[in-house]
Amino acid sequence: MGAQRGEFQSRLGFILAAAGSAVGLGNIWKFPFEVGNGGGAAFVVVYLTFCFLLCFPVMVAEIAIGRKTNKNPVGAFKDLGYHNWAFVGMLGLFCGVLILSFYNVVAGWAFGYFLEMVSGNFAIGKQFGPFTSNWVKIGLYGLLFMGTTAFIVSGGVKDGIERAAKILMPSLLAIIFFLLIYATTLPNAMKGLEFYLVPDFSKITPSVIYSALGQAFFSLSLGMGALITYGSYVSKRENIITSAAMITLADVGIAFIAGLMIFPFVFYQGADTAGGAGLIFTVLPEIFETLGPTLGVIIGSLFFLLLSFAALTSTVSLLEVPVSYVVDEHEIPRNKAVWMIAGFIFVIGIPSLLANGAVPMLTNFIDTGVDFMTWVQFVANDSLLPLGGFLITVFTAYVWKKHNLDEEISIGYPGYEGSFAQKLIHFGVSYLAPVILGILFILTVLNRFFGVSLI
Ligand code: TRP
Repeated sequence: MGAQRGEFQSRLGFILAAAGSAVGLGNIWKFPFEVGNGGGAAFVVVYLTFCFLLCFPVMVAEIAIGRKTNKNPVGAFKDLGYHNWAFVGMLGLFCGVLILSFYNVVAGWAFGYFLEMVSGNFAIGKQFGPFTSNWVKIGLYGLLFMGTTAFIVSGGVKDGIERAAKILMPSLLAIIFFLLIYATTLPNAMKGLEFYLVPDFSKITPSVIYSALGQAFFSLSLGMGALITYGSYVSKRENIITSAAMITLADVGIAFIAGLMIFPFVFYQGADTAGGAGLIFTVLPEIFETLGPTLGVIIGSLFFLLLSFAALTSTVSLLEVPVSYVVDEHEIPRNKAVWMIAGFIFVIGIPSLLANGAVPMLTNFIDTGVDFMTWVQFVANDSLLPLGGFLITVFTAYVWKKHNLDEEISIGYPGYEGSFAQKLIHFGVSYLAPVILGILFILTVLNRFFGVSLI
């Protein structure tokens, strides 16, 4: 079975693919503005603490479960002998399908903006509303994005996912550094950097801590078995600890650099930072226009190409989870599974596609004042991911047990027993992650679905 399932050819390939899953829209359009709203550097400190103390152990646990069993998230729990826990994998699958359904829509917008920038249509920033309501156009972009994702995934682990990551991730790095260097030469760049980097600790409120945690967890692709799946393609030789550390560093690093790049652009034109995540689609095109016709087209196109590449390696990982399940458990050929599932998720995503202006009933979903796509995020990102993380860590620490986790990690890391890393992981999976993620889940459900706000 193992050989047919595929395996990453190299350590670098695995790290790039997993970092590709982590680095996505979350890093480039969400992180910088969460930093801006949450007190600049102060938010970054909270975020980093969560990434390394809480998320890192969860990541190690996911990868270890995957590698131990060589299975998809559902099959993994069964393979370890705990059939009752397979529902955690099912929950992850369900959550992943929901995430991909709306994530692909936003990815389609990013790609659409790339095309608009190439043709020099900077006015698109002012037409963001009409753009997202034009369901024919964004439907086509969404279809194209899902098709590209499916094409990559149908190539398999080595020739599809790993190869795409090896092309897309270095390109992404090159683009982001180029844009960063360019941005810092703009007038007012320093003001932007100051806003981004000078901490204002008074802004650290419970709600900032809450969003930093949610952001960290989503950004690292945790809680739904994406890394169980990628872990199942990792060779026994690899050191799970150092790999997870590199994936975490890459994700945090790219998010941080995205902020360094975006704020100089924003301050160059004195734009309002309170524009939130929509800022990227509304304000940036106008700023690119001021750079002049040639430079504006180059910088603008590169920016949205960057966003599209970042999104693509993430949609690939999201699609791979249900695909691996269907291939392993129902023995359907990969190619067939990929196109079936991609088509299915595209259809599930149609309400989200129509929820940003095209259909009023979905734009203001059942009169909640919140659109359907945001509702899907409340369920998937904000509720199911923390719940999944809670269940995975409880399972690892108290059901599968830590000595089994240790054993799996030690295979590629002989010095693990007794190391500091081991203490960190044990503390994380046994106490820190279950407690904090459990609280996060309860707070979110109370807040989003019952209107009770405790923080
Ligand atoms: N981490 C990606 C981002 O920041 C999104 C993503 C991809 C994801 N795969 C995931 C999130 C799995 C949660 C679970 O954009």
